[in-house]
Amino acid sequence: HRAALGVDIGGTKIAAGVVDAGGRIVRRAEVPTPRGADAIDRATADLCLSLAATHPVEAVGIAVAGLVSSDRETVMFAPNIHYRNHPIAARVRALLDDAMPVVVENDANAAGWAEFAHGGHGASDMLMLTIGTGVGGAIVADGRLLRGGCGAGAEVGHLQIVAEGEECGCGQRGCFEAYASGTALERHGVRAVEDRAPGAERLTELAHADGGLRGRHIAQAAAEGDAFALGLLDDLGEWIGRGAASLVAVVDPDVIVIGGGVASTGAPLFAGIERGLRRHLTGADHRPFPRIVPATFGNEAGILGAADLARAAVLTPA
Ligand code: BGC
Ligand code: NA
Ligand code: ZN
Repeated sequence: HRAALGVDIGGTKIAAGVVDAGGRIVRRAEVPTPRGADAIDRATADLCLSLAATHPVEAVGIAVAGLVSSDRETVMFAPNIHYRNHPIAARVRALLDDAMPVVVENDANAAGWAEFAHGGHGASDMLMLTIGTGVGGAIVADGRLLRGGCGAGAEVGHLQIVAEGEECGCGQRGCFEAYASGTALERHGVRAVEDRAPGAERLTELAHADGGLRGRHIAQAAAEGDAFALGLLDDLGEWIGRGAASLVAVVDPDVIVIGGGVASTGAPLFAGIERGLRRHLTGADHRPFPRIVPATFGNEAGILGAADLARAAVLTPA
């Protein structure tokens, strides 16, 4: 059969790709996420139109960073995007002149699905965490993607981990993602630069040369071997591990897959995650310890999963 389109709407960018029947991305495009629901719908539709112009597709799958209704039509709430009870599938379908079927899925669920079905992890029970603007989660239990009663299951980024802690984009305080996201990493780096923290000289330099400190500067400094940046990634990893400990207690996964942009920083982050999980998982030394691995499809997992789910929905309509 034909190719499908996968779109991944995140808090920072909208990325889209044409995925062929063999699961390869054959053409890709992205734009910064605009402000406002209508602008995001339009940018999404424009990406679809431009990609479909050169590559005919049979369906469109949209992965979005928010709570998606179980009929996969509506984004109920998106903490870091301007979507509230928004009928995204119908809107994008209309902007595409009803020429293509459109299904919507939570971004981390879509990524987790791609990793589970095609990532080669060899597990029946999997937890995926996506570390980006927010923290996303996908839970596969006994081979099935957990969606919950209304579709909003596996919203692990809003696990409460610190009483009266840092503010979260969702309006609560102390959420997992307020400590374990790329946004939190950036916040810690920015504070260090502002406070002229000893050791933060390289980060300060990069920030000044480039109009303010961003996550990519922390990744760059860490890759250069800068001890302060490596420490920030290690701390982030420890927070991820701490939250994962609660999730492992519930899900008992064979494997924990770490995705999202921040995962590409590699070893220093993973060492922190491993240590955090060991420290906080009940009975860690007396039970099988889950494997912790990077996403096979890296930051493209959302695009691949969305396209795969859309194709499956077209072949076997609900
Ligand atoms: C949202 C989730 C999303 C995650 C990753 C969180 O803030 O609540 O729906 O999966 O960010 O984008
Ligand atoms: Na999810
Ligand atoms: Zn929250």
